[in-house]
Amino acid sequence: MSSSLMREYLEFYRDLGINELYIDPIDSEPDREDPVDAENQHEAALRVIQNDMGECKRCRLHQARKTIVFGSGNPAAKLVFVGEGPGAEEDEQGLPFVGRAGQLLTRMIDGTCERVGLPIRRPDVYICNVVKCRPPKNRTPEKDEMEICGQFLARQIKAIQPRAICVLGGTAAKALLRTSEGITRLRGNWQEWGGIRVMPTYHPSYLLRGYNKQGKVQAFQDLKQVLLYVYG
Ligand code: URA
Repeated sequence: MSSSLMREYLEFYRDLGINELYIDPIDSEPDREDPVDAENQHEAALRVIQNDMGECKRCRLHQARKTIVFGSGNPAAKLVFVGEGPGAEEDEQGLPFVGRAGQLLTRMIDGTCERVGLPIRRPDVYICNVVKCRPPKNRTPEKDEMEICGQFLARQIKAIQPRAICVLGGTAAKALLRTSEGITRLRGNWQEWGGIRVMPTYHPSYLLRGYNKQGKVQAFQDLKQVLLYVYG
C-alpha cells in the first residue's frame, strides 16, 4: 500500500471516529520492490500501530503517565534497540532514552560506530521500550503490563523489519525472548525473535551504577558484534 493511500485510509477512519484500527502486519509490510517508497511505508505502518494504541488505558500504567513513549529513530532502521520502559525524563518529553541512561546509550552507539569505522549514529537506528508508559517510581514493569504492551512492540518490530534487535537489560530480554535466563548469561550470545537475530546486552542504567569497567567493556563487545553484523 502506498503511503498516500495509507494516509487516506487513516483519515477516513479517523473522520468516522474509529481509533481502534487493526491492520494485519503482513498487509502493512513494506514493499521490498519499491525502495523509493520503502521508508514512507515503514513510517505509515508505525503510525497505524500508534493510532491503534491511541490514548491507551489497557493497563494500570496509564494512571500515572504523562506521555506515551512510543519510540523514536529511523522507521526503516536495520537495527532496533529495545529497553524496559520510560523513566521520568522520557515521560516528560515523550521520547525514549533521553535521560542519563539515554545519554549513555547515545555515547555507546555513536562511540562504538566511530571506533569500528561505521558511518552510523543514533538517529539511524530505532529505539523503543517493552512498555510505553513510565512505571511509577521507575519500578520494574509487571508481567501483565509487559504482556499487554508487548503486542505493540511485536507489531512495531514487524513494521520496521530490522536485520537485528539489541535488547537492553534483563527485564526487556526476558519479556522479548520469553526466557528466565539472566542477562549475565544471555549477553553477548545471539538469540532469535520471529526470525530476527537478537543480541542481548546490559542496560545502560546498570552500567551507570558505580564503577563497572567490566560491564562497559562487555557492552562494547556486544554492541560491536551487533553493529558489524547489521552494517558491516
Ligand atoms: N530506561 C529504559 O529502559 N528506557 C528508557 O526509555 C529510559 C530509561
